[in-house]
Amino acid sequence: MSNAICPGKVWHDTAGHRIQAHGGCVFKQGKEFYLFGEDRSRHNRPDCRYVGCYRSTDLVHWRFCGEVVKLKNPDPKFFTENWILERPKVLYNRFTHRYVMYAHIDGRGYSIARVAVFISRTIAGHYHFLRSFRPLGHQSRDIGMYQARDGKAYLLFEDRPSGFRIVELAPNYLSIKKSICLIHQHLEGLGLVHYRGLYYVLGSHLTGWGPNPDVYATAKSLRGPWSQFRNVAPPKTKTYDSQSGYLLKIVGTRHTAVIYMGDRWNPRQLWNSRYIWMPLKIGGGEMQLPKPHCWKINIRTGTVSFPPR
Ligand code: DGJ
Repeated sequence: MSNAICPGKVWHDTAGHRIQAHGGCVFKQGKEFYLFGEDRSRHNRPDCRYVGCYRSTDLVHWRFCGEVVKLKNPDPKFFTENWILERPKVLYNRFTHRYVMYAHIDGRGYSIARVAVFISRTIAGHYHFLRSFRPLGHQSRDIGMYQARDGKAYLLFEDRPSGFRIVELAPNYLSIKKSICLIHQHLEGLGLVHYRGLYYVLGSHLTGWGPNPDVYATAKSLRGPWSQFRNVAPPKTKTYDSQSGYLLKIVGTRHTAVIYMGDRWNPRQLWNSRYIWMPLKIGGGEMQLPKPHCWKINIRTGTVSFPPR
C-alpha cells in the first residue's frame, strides 16, 4: 500500500478493496476524516443505489465503514428504471445533533432533477432517506455543499435553464431557507471553499462524463459579485483529465492546504473511475491545479510534501 496519495492510480482501502467513493466529499470529525461517495461496485444490487463511507487519519489510508446508504427506488413511478443517486455530501448539524446528507437523485435521462435528503444519528451509521424535492422549485442536478463557521449551511446546485445557484439551508438543514445567489454560468461538479477572506467556487462545464477545462471564480460574499471565471489548469489538459467535485480545506498549525478532489470518470466501468486529489495553489484570488503527482500531507501542520518520483 502506498504511503502517499497518487492521483489517477487505483486506490485500495485498508482491506485491499478499491475505494468506492466517487463524486464524494470529505468531512472531518475530531482527528478523523470521513470520505463519502458513490459506491459503484460491480456486485451492487441493480435495484439499489449506494453511498460508501471510509475513515482515515492521514487522508492516505482509508478504512471502509460500510454502505451508509443502500436505497431502493423511493418512488418508482417518478424515478423509473435507470434512476441515479449521485454526488452525496454530508454535514453535521450542531443544533439538532444529526448528520445530514444531500445527493442528486434523478430518473432516466436526468429529467427529474431533484435533491434527496438523508439523516443519521451517527456519522458512519445508516442514513435514512427523508424525501426528495427541487430546491425552491428549481431543477437541481450536480450538487455541492458548504458549511460556514457560524453553522449555516449552503447547497450549490446546477440549474440547467439558468446556471447554478447557492441557497441557504434551514437551521435543521432539512429544507431550503432562502436563495443566496444565482450565477449565470452553466457549471456542475461544484466545490466551494473560503480561504483568506475570499470564497472560491469551482466547477466544470457540462460535458457528461467527459472532462473539460474546469473554471473558478472568487467573491468576498456568497451573494457576489463573483469575478470572471478562469481556468484552474491549462485548458488543453482538460483539468488533467478530471472533473471537479469537492474542495477540502485542511487547517494546520503551519499551513492551510486546499485540496482539489476530482473524478476521472470511466463511464463504461464507473467502478473503475479514478480519483484525482491534489493540493491547489491558492491565494490572492488565484487558484491553480498543479500537474497531478504523488503527495502527502502532515495533518497536524498542514504541510504538503512530494515523495521522490
Ligand atoms: C456530469 C455529472 O457531473 C456527473 O455527476 C454525472 O451526472 C454525469 N454528468 C452523467 O453524464
